[in-house]
Amino acid sequence: MNRLQNEEIPGLSEVFQAQFRIGAAVNPQTLSTQRELLARHFNSLTAENEMKFERLHPESERYVFEEADRLMAFAESCGAAVRGHTLVWHNQTPSWVFEDGNGGAADRDRLLARMKSHIDTVVSRYKGRIYAWDVVNEAVSDQSGEWLRPSKWLDIAGEDFILKAFEYAHAADPGALLFYNDYNESDPEKREKIYRLVQRLLEQGAPIHGIGLQAHWNLFDPPIADIRAAIERYASLGLKLHVTELDLSMFRFDDRRTDVTAPSTEMLELQAARYKDIFRLFLEYREHIGCVTFWGAADDYTWLDDFPVRGRKNWPFLFDANHLPKQGYRDILQLVQS
Ligand code: GLA
Repeated sequence: MNRLQNEEIPGLSEVFQAQFRIGAAVNPQTLSTQRELLARHFNSLTAENEMKFERLHPESERYVFEEADRLMAFAESCGAAVRGHTLVWHNQTPSWVFEDGNGGAADRDRLLARMKSHIDTVVSRYKGRIYAWDVVNEAVSDQSGEWLRPSKWLDIAGEDFILKAFEYAHAADPGALLFYNDYNESDPEKREKIYRLVQRLLEQGAPIHGIGLQAHWNLFDPPIADIRAAIERYASLGLKLHVTELDLSMFRFDDRRTDVTAPSTEMLELQAARYKDIFRLFLEYREHIGCVTFWGAADDYTWLDDFPVRGRKNWPFLFDANHLPKQGYRDILQLVQS
């Protein structure tokens, strides 16, 4: 039996109120199954999928806003802010966006016009209600020696598709904070590529206000020293930082075991210690960090249950599958209460 039941423990977002927002990614299912946990511990919500291009705009003339609107209504009913995710990405974007309708590829003008009209429609709909948008997601390559990720956006529109996305988003809601968001953000080589991209955007006068560090990490990687170096490097651009998709997998990325059906005591202890180190670091840089969002809320649901090993369960969060606080929750609380 867990020593602390949920009703007796302080809400995470309350505890960190003076430092940064605490967010969670949600989906239509968890909005119902994790409703109380979300309302109690989180003051920023992100749609796991429901605001992506393919969900909002599956066909050229058809937008679908029901699920995104439900998330907004829930967030507003419990006083949580909303981070929009995501406007321009190489993934989860329908193929019609890149086609000319006659079996060929769309040209640059048509693609940028579509991007603009998508961003106008989506950002305007939630104007003043979504405080930050991930405008461009994952445009930087993971390949050594390659700067930007090859994608249809890049092939057809060229490098400045990124600048255009920020300009269109800013025009649609001048009050929203606009972010470039990426993963492997603490890897030294990729960090420099992200830095270079954002620095160039700033030189071009892009309305960019922050960098999103996805933070899909695990018990062993990346080293705290690399996370610290990334925070310092990005903050040196004078931008806000949001941790946008934090989870701590129990497995190294190349660990493909399938026989672990429950987390061992050792795993839980390691995870708690790692959460503590990570939050200690975030607190040190709180002046730069505006929000720490988990990519989920509790261990009953995580995208890591299927990735990268199909069907293998994972336990990446501070709350267990019954929504009770884990050791990690208690440990990070001590950081602000001691
Ligand atoms: C990336 C994206 C997220 C999500 C995760 C996997 O990090 O930014 O939207 O798709 O991958 O769940």
